[in-house]
Amino acid sequence: MDFSIKACDWSKGEANGFLTGKSDVIVLGVFEAQTLTGAARDMDVATKGLISRVVKAGDMSGRAGSTLLVPEVTGIGASRVLLVGLGKQDAFSQKAYGEAVRAAWRVILGSKIGQATFTLAQLPILERTGDWAVRTAVLALRELTYKFTQMKSKPDNGARSLKKIVFSVDSADEKAAKLALKQGVAIANGMDLTRDLGNLPPNVCTPTYLGQTAKKLGRDWKLKVEVLGQKQIEALNMGSFLSVAKGSVEPPQFIVMQYQGAGADTGKAKGKNAPIVLVGKGITFDSGGISIKPGEAMDEMKYDMCGAGSVFGTMRAVAEMGLKLNVIGVIPTCENMPAGNALKPGDIITAMNGTTIEVLNTDAEGRLILCDALTYAERFKPAAVIDVATLTGACVIALGHHNTGLFSKDDALAGQLLDASREAVDPAWRLPLDDEYQDQLKSNFADLANIGGRPAGSVTAACFLSRFAANYPWAHLDIAGTAWKSGAAKGATGRPVPLLSQFLIDRAAL
Ligand code: BES
Ligand code: MN
Ligand code: ZN
Repeated sequence: MDFSIKACDWSKGEANGFLTGKSDVIVLGVFEAQTLTGAARDMDVATKGLISRVVKAGDMSGRAGSTLLVPEVTGIGASRVLLVGLGKQDAFSQKAYGEAVRAAWRVILGSKIGQATFTLAQLPILERTGDWAVRTAVLALRELTYKFTQMKSKPDNGARSLKKIVFSVDSADEKAAKLALKQGVAIANGMDLTRDLGNLPPNVCTPTYLGQTAKKLGRDWKLKVEVLGQKQIEALNMGSFLSVAKGSVEPPQFIVMQYQGAGADTGKAKGKNAPIVLVGKGITFDSGGISIKPGEAMDEMKYDMCGAGSVFGTMRAVAEMGLKLNVIGVIPTCENMPAGNALKPGDIITAMNGTTIEVLNTDAEGRLILCDALTYAERFKPAAVIDVATLTGACVIALGHHNTGLFSKDDALAGQLLDASREAVDPAWRLPLDDEYQDQLKSNFADLANIGGRPAGSVTAACFLSRFAANYPWAHLDIAGTAWKSGAAKGATGRPVPLLSQFLIDRAAL
């Protein structure tokens, strides 16, 4: 899809070619009060009152979510007008804007329209700017057009008509809107990668496959990529990670991807260019291991690598945006399977940093692979480390499928992530991490137990990770409820790529 930005200050004369510019549709907003403003008013004049007549006839009330496609329009370059109801103007929030945008895209995608002119990003949205509106519209369209068809035996024959979209923006917003467009496309491309990796079946998307994906990403986007195998992981003493991997016939991989958008963090710049490290849980299938899961919906445990998938997607987005900062993606990846040689409840293992862990449940495996990756991350002297993981069913119980769980002892870092989450409309909610919860992880035999019982299960999981992340600013995102959808709409969401990308955009601007 080809997106572009063109400035236009409506009602100030020439309309910069928008009145005569050829397209298959121009999208115009109508508020409930029905007084036409901006683009809608200019188009009304140019069409000799067509839009006012439609509104007067009662065919477009301005009710939020309503749409009307008016065909065979004359007097302007566009051959159709798509009117979109916006609701009350003084309540035109980001949510109302998002609904109007999605309604418009749905109508267009359901038609034969190939070229669209889109004016809704110029509407006055409460607390939001024009560039935000462009990025949000791009992401909404890309979300609606995403399809996962690569495992179907016959190619998808429903070719899409929509090819070209021109956004009108106020000339004062033009520069920012162009940047937002570039960012929106990069984030959407990153999300598509995240969704594809999540949706691939676990017999295809294995640890080896993720290693190959990293190498390809490195070639395409000039990242420095290392993929460590069993022997090298052993040499690093990652006893905790390896204990999870050993029951599987698929070899584990430890992936490191480095994007250097700022200078090296050496010499005079030491500390100034310290990288942000993203750590992603890469369990390509979580059967539970010997503490095996019940059969229902177990197929969805192919999504247990969505943390890793979101790190891939974010690295891709960051590289495409060309952000001026250093970002490192670290992914421990393996399967969690039962076997004669698998990890057992009661086993005591030794993590890379020397901590001994009593494994009371082999299904609490995410923390066991992440803890060694968090220790490994120390070598980069990071400005911050953020891990992303489909870590606990308890997080789904606490927050459902709307908010990602955010855990951090660092108020500044947590605040930056929450700000990014709001800006990106990728919701996250901060949950506690008080030291009092650490008691639940006491073991009679080892330094630490790998589970803390049923109360506050996502908090104790985060507490476990915190023991390995004491040497740098750290935050943990539990995406168990937000990484994919179940039921008829089963599929990966691409979250939290928008949140992470926005966080990195903001960090690069510091
Ligand atoms: N990958 C799961 C968490 C999960 C479960 C995510 C369901 C999304 C939906 C994780 O490895 C796991 O099994 N966690 C256990 C921990 C428990 C044994 C302490 C859980 O949440 O039940
Ligand atoms: Mn598990
Ligand atoms: Zn898991």
